[in-house]
Amino acid sequence: MAHISDLIATDIDQYLKSHEHKSLLRFITCGSVDDGKSTLIGRLLYDSKMIFEDQLAAIEADSKKMGTQGGKLDLALLVDGLAAEREQGITIDVAYRFFSTDKRKFIVADTPGHEQYTRNMVTGASTASLAIILIDANKGVLTQTRRHSYLVSLIGIRHIVLAINKMDMVGFSRDIFETILQDYREFAEQIGLTSIVAIPISALNGENITEPSAKTPWYTGPTLMSHLETVQIDDHSQAAPFRLPVQWVNRPNQSFRGFSGVIASGTVHPGDRLRVLPSGKESKVARIVTIDGDLQEAVAEQSVTIVLEDEIDISRGNVLARVDALPSVADQFKVTIIWMAEEAMLPGRQYWVKVGTKLALATVTDVKHKINVNTLEKLAAKTLELNEIGVCNLSLDQPIAFDPYVENRDTGGFILIDRLTNGTVGAGLIHFALRRAENIHWQAIEVNKGAHAAIKNQKACILWFTGLSGSGKSTIANLVEKRLYSLGHHTFLLDGDNVRHGLNRDLGFTDADRVENIRRVAEVAKLMVEAGLITLVSFISPFRTERRMARGLVEQGEFVEVFVNTPLAVAEARDPKGLYKKARAGEIKHFTGIDSEYEPSENPEIMIDTTLDSVEAAADRIVRYLAQKGSVREVGVDFSI
Ligand code: ADX
Repeated sequence: MAHISDLIATDIDQYLKSHEHKSLLRFITCGSVDDGKSTLIGRLLYDSKMIFEDQLAAIEADSKKMGTQGGKLDLALLVDGLAAEREQGITIDVAYRFFSTDKRKFIVADTPGHEQYTRNMVTGASTASLAIILIDANKGVLTQTRRHSYLVSLIGIRHIVLAINKMDMVGFSRDIFETILQDYREFAEQIGLTSIVAIPISALNGENITEPSAKTPWYTGPTLMSHLETVQIDDHSQAAPFRLPVQWVNRPNQSFRGFSGVIASGTVHPGDRLRVLPSGKESKVARIVTIDGDLQEAVAEQSVTIVLEDEIDISRGNVLARVDALPSVADQFKVTIIWMAEEAMLPGRQYWVKVGTKLALATVTDVKHKINVNTLEKLAAKTLELNEIGVCNLSLDQPIAFDPYVENRDTGGFILIDRLTNGTVGAGLIHFALRRAENIHWQAIEVNKGAHAAIKNQKACILWFTGLSGSGKSTIANLVEKRLYSLGHHTFLLDGDNVRHGLNRDLGFTDADRVENIRRVAEVAKLMVEAGLITLVSFISPFRTERRMARGLVEQGEFVEVFVNTPLAVAEARDPKGLYKKARAGEIKHFTGIDSEYEPSENPEIMIDTTLDSVEAAADRIVRYLAQKGSVREVGVDFSI
């Protein structure tokens, strides 16, 4: 049964050829080292002869030295040895191991089993069609068994192998096996896992791994390997409606224009009528081009380039679908998010969201509840911490095509990406679109921003002052406003302290509250720009991501960031409101610069160093900047009032 690795040495071509035609099963193993997970994976690699001679020699030597099996071959050393290497790399938390037999190829995702590694398990499970849930027969169903099973069901894996391990330690007792299975079934039903195959094994001794064990005559089911080789994975993705998330527009010359990507689901033929989402334009498939020539049919997982009969506008991130089975289009969703970053989620902050090949900006507008993955209880929550899972509302800056995750993992799953670090901070799945968004439309307004500003003889903009408390933002902003006023301009000054007395009176100074504080004031400033006003915003606004978000709300050139760059020591020495003193005394928590971060402006339009410039000089510079931009009238007159 085992795969003949000798072929690699003697006839590599034959080896590769025999490989091409075998089906591939991706699976994940869930359990901890204590359950025998490393031993099991080691055993699968060993029995399929995927361990190379030199590795084997090393393990034999190590087994004698430091193995836990009394000098016998300790297969866990193989996997754990690789794991140690892997840990040095830090970034790769999931190891994918390849092995094959005569019948199939396998990729097994090996993830650390501890609670804090939820994110790794989710990553490993995301491409798997089957999960082996490992149980120690001595211990039975544990909290972690439930956690792993819940995550597996959440990710949408429907095939479960319950590998009840260490049967040798319980005398291969049928009773114990049956009791554990019964226990597990009761729980699994609650989370919708029904396809369960339980196998009594001993990974250590190789019982029921590749050969039926003589020690379990009462067990008539398959061995683990034969089950993995033969399990029918219903190819959901081919039966599902056709979806092609467009990866790129392929236009090598004027005469060729195709749309390339990997087919996420379904099949497509020349002549099929397709619709482009979200634009809604339609055309017919003229050709399906691949590197091996044109196809008459293409199916899920194939990389293709589709040529359409008509010239229509399509860009990366669009989805091509057949007109008879369309995805939905929306910009607000109910989703489940698995948070994967050390820093907690910040509702109100903009993150990049990637759905299929589409990148958009997304904000969590509401955390409905989080889920205790051990008990499945729903808990009230305002945010999600590392490895927490919660149900949230997600709002995007534009409509996208999607399917519910239960129908399509590719067009219904997403990741969230931090805008500054570009790191993945979360993964999620779309449940459905929020209908409320469908019923709110943009009202076309005829007296627009330009008209509002023109009547005031100015161009609207936001002057965004950022800097530490006591840096001088408000003093400078005040003087700028006075000068603009004296020139006959229409302005409005939004000041942190003042806005916090009204609109934002419910907010404090945690990171999450500051994010929301800035989100609201940025939206207000945007409305004021629409009204044609020169809008001055004077908020500490300590985080770059939110300043960038505010900039993105208005048109290019309308956002002028003024960084009032006063060193902490100077601001603290001034201490106009006595707040630094209180913060140092521990009377105020989360004080900016003391125990809450300030991220300096990186590319401000204007930087003021208040240790060099006077308030007047600073105000002068800002007004002149606006004059040069054409936002305000030429300066040069005496504007003292
Ligand atoms: S921001 O960080 O959310 O942008 P904002 O500008 O609205 O802050 O408010 C800052 C003002 O609130 C400060 O000028 C100060 O007067 C006051 N304040 C009270 N507590 C704090 C604190 N913990 N950190 C910073 N400012 C505080």
